[in-house]
Amino acid sequence: MRIIERISEMQHQAAVWRSGGRRIVLVPTMGYLHEGHLTLMREARKHGDEVVVSIFVNPTQFGPGEDFERYPRDMSRDVTLAREAGVSMVFAPPVNEMYPESYQTFVEVTEVTRPLCGQSRPTHFRGVTTVVMKLFNIVKPHAAVFGEKDFQQLMAIRRMVSDLNLDIEVIGHPIVRESDGLAMSSRNAYLDSGQREIALSLSRSLAEAERLVESGERHGKIVLGKVEERLKGNGELRIDYAKLCNPETLQDVTEIRGPTLLALAAFVGKTRLIDNKVLHVRTD
Ligand code: PAF
Repeated sequence: MRIIERISEMQHQAAVWRSGGRRIVLVPTMGYLHEGHLTLMREARKHGDEVVVSIFVNPTQFGPGEDFERYPRDMSRDVTLAREAGVSMVFAPPVNEMYPESYQTFVEVTEVTRPLCGQSRPTHFRGVTTVVMKLFNIVKPHAAVFGEKDFQQLMAIRRMVSDLNLDIEVIGHPIVRESDGLAMSSRNAYLDSGQREIALSLSRSLAEAERLVESGERHGKIVLGKVEERLKGNGELRIDYAKLCNPETLQDVTEIRGPTLLALAAFVGKTRLIDNKVLHVRTD
């Protein structure tokens, strides 16, 4: 497995692979790899011949006062894990390679990035779509794999790919959870043991909502009420949002009549965590 830092070198390698008929699959990450990322890499191997993992903590997707500086980083461990997962190449550019001083171009997806995380992180998705577009142009993948924990991110990327006619297959992978239900995230590393216990209330409230809907509850207000009640029972947790929405448009839903996304964001201490579940209405 090689590690490439330079854009021109990565583009050259991608062109060589493409001219040899190799199918390239990209797994974009910000590093500090965990089992969730490794699952995406294993998924990627099923979809192509060469798997490229990008490791880049992207400054443009962090707002002022957010955790860009302290975001966890461990390149040597990441490289070992990527190698063990059987990837062909790690692309890990320095910040000034991706954003030289003269940089001034951004890619923005509008509607689907406005609600949910877009409310509290107004410049976040613009940074995500910009860096993903750059990675697509550098790695030249035929397909790219993203986790569904960042549901809105995945929707924004699908929208960008469709709107800009990119010839890239976007593959979503279900959320990977710890055995106790906590959604895997590099940010879980910020949590102490007490906070980690509190963080479990996100996945537990999603499971409770699922049970309610399975038992016939259709009123969004009642489902969200239960979710908020469970989340609020924890002193150190502050809800950013708890929303029921249409999984195609992310518009708010008041009655649960078809597949409905329950999306959560909450701060546990200073750590912002997200989680989600698509709730299904039984038709039998
Ligand atoms: O999901 C992430 O880790 C990041 O948002 C991504 C897609 C790698 C872009 O920086």
